[in-house]
Amino acid sequence: MRIIISVVIVITLIWLSPLFLSDEFGLRLGLPYRVFFTLFTLFAGFLFYLLRSPAMSPFKSTKTALGIVVLVFGASVGFIVLLSAVSPQFTFESKATATVTPAERGKAVYDDPNMGCFLCHAINKTGGTRGPDLSHIASVAGERRQGMSTEGYLKESLLNPGEYVVPSYDNIMPPVAQRLSAEQLDDLIAYLSSLK
Ligand code: HEC
Repeated sequence: MRIIISVVIVITLIWLSPLFLSDEFGLRLGLPYRVFFTLFTLFAGFLFYLLRSPAMSPFKSTKTALGIVVLVFGASVGFIVLLSAVSPQFTFESKATATVTPAERGKAVYDDPNMGCFLCHAINKTGGTRGPDLSHIASVAGERRQGMSTEGYLKESLLNPGEYVVPSYDNIMPPVAQRLSAEQLDDLIAYLSSLK
């Protein structure tokens, strides 16, 4: 009975929280959080109920005790994983790791000050002017040299910039991309290929 009362009080507090948590408090419980904490409270209440029932306590054997620990652990982890799949607010991690595209990684290579691309090249009006504007390089690259694909031209521009010098520019681009790993180079090319 005491468990039920506590659970009801906690859940009421959770749902009334917007009334007494002012904005300055810095903590606001949105709907997904309230649902999460409600389910969590119900779940915790259920576990306490299980643990207090005579069948479980005192534990009859180490095996039962171990079984319960595993069950509680498995159920909590499973529950949280399930919740993170259902609620968009909990998909933080998968967003950061799983959905990073090669082009996004390539942009990071491009923006790396050690590479210095932006010192000479501009993309969407930010960057230097000593090299050609790259805002639409994917549309230009395929036309630069007879019989050379966009990707082939980009690769050559990065690894051997002096092989073909864009008219009205000086042959000053350093072969910095030679320092990149094969994967980073592919990412960088994927990024440049996305600039249509
Ligand atoms: C010191 C200045 C400088 C730096 C740093 C530099 N570039 Fe260049 N880049 C140039 C110049 C100048 C050209 C045009 C002459 C040529 O083709 O070599 C050029 C040409 C290019 C081209 C071909 C452009 C076209 O219109 O055909 C690409 C692609 C390119 N650079 C990408 C990069 C990337 C990516 C980086 C960073 C890894 C980088 N550049 C770093 C100066 C630079």
